[in-house]
Amino acid sequence: MMPLQQSGYSFFFLIFFFFASALCTNVTYDHRALIINGQRKLLMSASIHYPRSVPAMWPGLVAAAKEGGIDVIESYVFWNGHEISPGKYYFGGRFDLVKFVKIIRDARMYMMLRIGPFVAAEWNFGGVPVWLHYVPGTVFRTDSEPFKTHVQSFTTYIVEMMKKERLFASQGGPIILAQVENEYGDIESVYGKGGKPYAMWSAKMALSQNIGVPWIMCQQYDAPDPVINTCNSFYCDQFQPNSVKKPKIWTENWPGWFNTFGSAIRQRPPEDIAYAVARFFQNGGSLNNYYMYHGGTNFDRTSGGPFITTSYDYDAPLDEYGLLRLPKWGHLKDLHKAIKLCEHALLYGEAALVTLGPLQEATVYTDLIGNCAAFLANLDEEMDKTVVFQNKSYHLLPWSVSILPDCRNVEFNTAMITSQSSIVEMIPESLQASSFVQEKGLKTSNWDFFVEKIGVWHTADLKKTGFVDHINTTKDTTDYLWYTTSFHFHRDQGLLRNGSLPVLKVESKGHAVHVFVNKKLQVSSSGNGAGSSFKFESPITLKHGKNKIALLSMTVGLQNAGPFYEWVGAGLTSVKISHLKGGSIDLSSNTWVYKIGLEGEYKNIYSEEHAKKVKWISMDEVPKNQPLTWYKTTVHPPSGQDPIALDMEFMGKGRAWLNGEAIGRYWPRKSSIHDKCSSTCNYRGKFFPDKCGTGCGQPTQRWYHIPRSWFRPSGNTLVIFEEKGGDPSKIKFARRRATSICGSVAEAYPLDLGSMVNANGKKDTKTNLYLACSHGSFISAIKFASFGTPAGSCGSYSQGICHYANSVHVVKEACLNKNNCAISLSEKTFGNNIICPGTIKKLSVEVACS
Ligand SMILES: *[C@@H]1O[C@H](CO)[C@@H](O)[C@H](O)[C@H]1NC(C)=O
Ligand SMILES: *[C@@H]1O[C@H](CO)[C@@H](O)[C@H](O)[C@H]1NC(C)=O
Ligand SMILES: *[C@@H]1O[C@H](CO)[C@@H](O)[C@H](O)[C@H]1NC(C)=O
Ligand SMILES: *[C@@H]1O[C@H](CO)[C@@H](O)[C@H](O)[C@H]1NC(C)=O
Repeated sequence: MMPLQQSGYSFFFLIFFFFASALCTNVTYDHRALIINGQRKLLMSASIHYPRSVPAMWPGLVAAAKEGGIDVIESYVFWNGHEISPGKYYFGGRFDLVKFVKIIRDARMYMMLRIGPFVAAEWNFGGVPVWLHYVPGTVFRTDSEPFKTHVQSFTTYIVEMMKKERLFASQGGPIILAQVENEYGDIESVYGKGGKPYAMWSAKMALSQNIGVPWIMCQQYDAPDPVINTCNSFYCDQFQPNSVKKPKIWTENWPGWFNTFGSAIRQRPPEDIAYAVARFFQNGGSLNNYYMYHGGTNFDRTSGGPFITTSYDYDAPLDEYGLLRLPKWGHLKDLHKAIKLCEHALLYGEAALVTLGPLQEATVYTDLIGNCAAFLANLDEEMDKTVVFQNKSYHLLPWSVSILPDCRNVEFNTAMITSQSSIVEMIPESLQASSFVQEKGLKTSNWDFFVEKIGVWHTADLKKTGFVDHINTTKDTTDYLWYTTSFHFHRDQGLLRNGSLPVLKVESKGHAVHVFVNKKLQVSSSGNGAGSSFKFESPITLKHGKNKIALLSMTVGLQNAGPFYEWVGAGLTSVKISHLKGGSIDLSSNTWVYKIGLEGEYKNIYSEEHAKKVKWISMDEVPKNQPLTWYKTTVHPPSGQDPIALDMEFMGKGRAWLNGEAIGRYWPRKSSIHDKCSSTCNYRGKFFPDKCGTGCGQPTQRWYHIPRSWFRPSGNTLVIFEEKGGDPSKIKFARRRATSICGSVAEAYPLDLGSMVNANGKKDTKTNLYLACSHGSFISAIKFASFGTPAGSCGSYSQGICHYANSVHVVKEACLNKNNCAISLSEKTFGNNIICPGTIKKLSVEVACS
């Protein structure tokens, strides 16, 4: 035993070493995994982009990811949100990167910082500032000096900012990986001689930043050592890094897909995501990142395009509003737990592949300390299969993987969802809470409005023969550019004898246009999907004498990816009038007068401070179906804590603001009823974005998220700019809420058929049904409960032939007025009389949370 005095010293040293080790985390890698403080790590990672939500949501999102079994949060860095003009930076509000990283650190999680600075990400211009396109001599993403100079200075700025706050793991912070460039390998050759040198320069520039943690480059097949090349795809189990010294990392596992205005809604089934993840780890993967885990919202004009919706929900495990998407979130949580149980065997064991059938295989991992973990895969897209593995038989569902952390018992099967599901509803609420209306004596319609001038307001910006490029002219300071001209038309000489109207023919590089002839909106058109260019013809009414034509050209999110994407232009290329007696008039080479943007935008009238700069009109009856109209009203937030959306079903197209904060572009554009939609999605077989569309013939986006933190307790100003005409009296709020949760669990886990040699199988433990309402809410009613052979799914359960009469009673006793509950699926729970012997019974429950 040491004398007292000395132990005082060693205590001091202990404290010192504790802090020293807290000060830095050693992150390296070998062929198998990242090595953190000497240990190989199996990591689950989640993409949450900080500017796609608000700071008030960040801690909750990060916590929900952690609860879902996530270790790492990933985000891109959004250059054009930060470097507003050359050398002028912004890191406030949603762009407070340091605050976001510190929230991750404080949650004791790791971070992957994908700096880019080109990011694609369905984000405006791929994240690169538009001003950089106009720095002379600049070509993006190639061996171009001005581009490289700005990339290096922004990357350095971000790295220095992180270093100053000690946020790299090498400094004790959470950042364990950083990315430079993004998916460049896929298009490197298109850049010809500039491609490879640029990619190599990027890697070298990154390495010279000395961040003390590894760099990655995704989809970069020639990433030079020590940069790790990583995989982005729906499936990455077949991926191999470009060196045997590098671990297998999946930077983008897409659990859904983004939407464009006018598309059906894309969804990916949880069974297939789980299958892809299990196959990845079965085949040597060590880090899986969901892109996105929370997609969030493309607020303001940040969405890329053209036509990416304001919602970036992505069918992610956390929905746009931050609520758990069930059963997806829970199924992946169960998957993560099962894979983590295998961690040591996977990362330190030897792998052996065992063939179990023509399309069935097992990978068995055994380590030196006696752990054994096995993944049993059935690659068959149609048929299930019973296989024998180590003298035990197992039932494998089609297109599924069973995970056996001890090589004997099935902990998890990717195609068998046992976690709870939910029904989420948008509950309508008026813009002014009824009590509030009474209190303040407000009319039900209390919209003020201001109508934009059609065509050039104030003075023209530009006069030119022929057409200018839209983006070159606006420099993306606004979506809008007026193209105006006039011409003379002689009715008697011009009109055809058979009485048919003149036909306007317009061609445009994109993205959308409203055509006003003599101050009247006559036709609107736009591109579709990935194609932004469009042409159309439409009969128009002309008058005798001078006719004024004003075309409001619009961008709907700039290109965000593809070789030389920054050169893809927009705007009109041809305007003709045909079906005239003298043939046709080509207005393309007329003198065109241009005006950039709208008066209301220019004067910032959506902000409370500047609203008074125009004269708003107040009327009892708000004008409907009127183009180019600004609407303003005072709104009251729905009570409670549910997330809030704006219901724009009855509006045309435009933008919206609350208290000066830009909600985003709205456009309830409908998808075609001819799109491929299916009420159920077959999870089996390879997924592709259009495999499982829903909502055909419906608006792609009807609801627009307004973060609660943007509201004040009262006196909130909602401003709408409507381009084509809508009915603002029908605008409502909606509260988003999980109104029901459901669970359905079978009595016996039918995947583990037991030992063929001796019946010494472990007693099955998966016979509890768990239900949990979100934090702060309680199970308020039992909507359905049946122990027996119930059919259907959440929201549509029905009793089967076998049904225990006391099912509802049992669930009530166990669950009512509780936040969460567990019910054991034994016959004892449901009464002693055995009513359907020999049947594997199931308990299905739907409850209301409030
Ligand atoms: C970091 O870890 C690696 C691999 O485990 C090891 O070789 C290296 O010495 C460690 N570095 C420090 C500073 O501890
Ligand atoms: C399977 O059974 C055979 C024959 O009884 C036996 O030799 C073998 O050890 C068993 N294997 C396992 C993994 O239990
Ligand atoms: C009128 O004549 C034009 C030119 O021949 C033709 O394209 C159009 O279809 C005709 N319209 C009617 C209503 O017959
Ligand atoms: C935009 O302007 C640049 C010159 O600044 C020119 O090189 C480019 O071709 C223009 N783009 C389009 C689409 O017209």
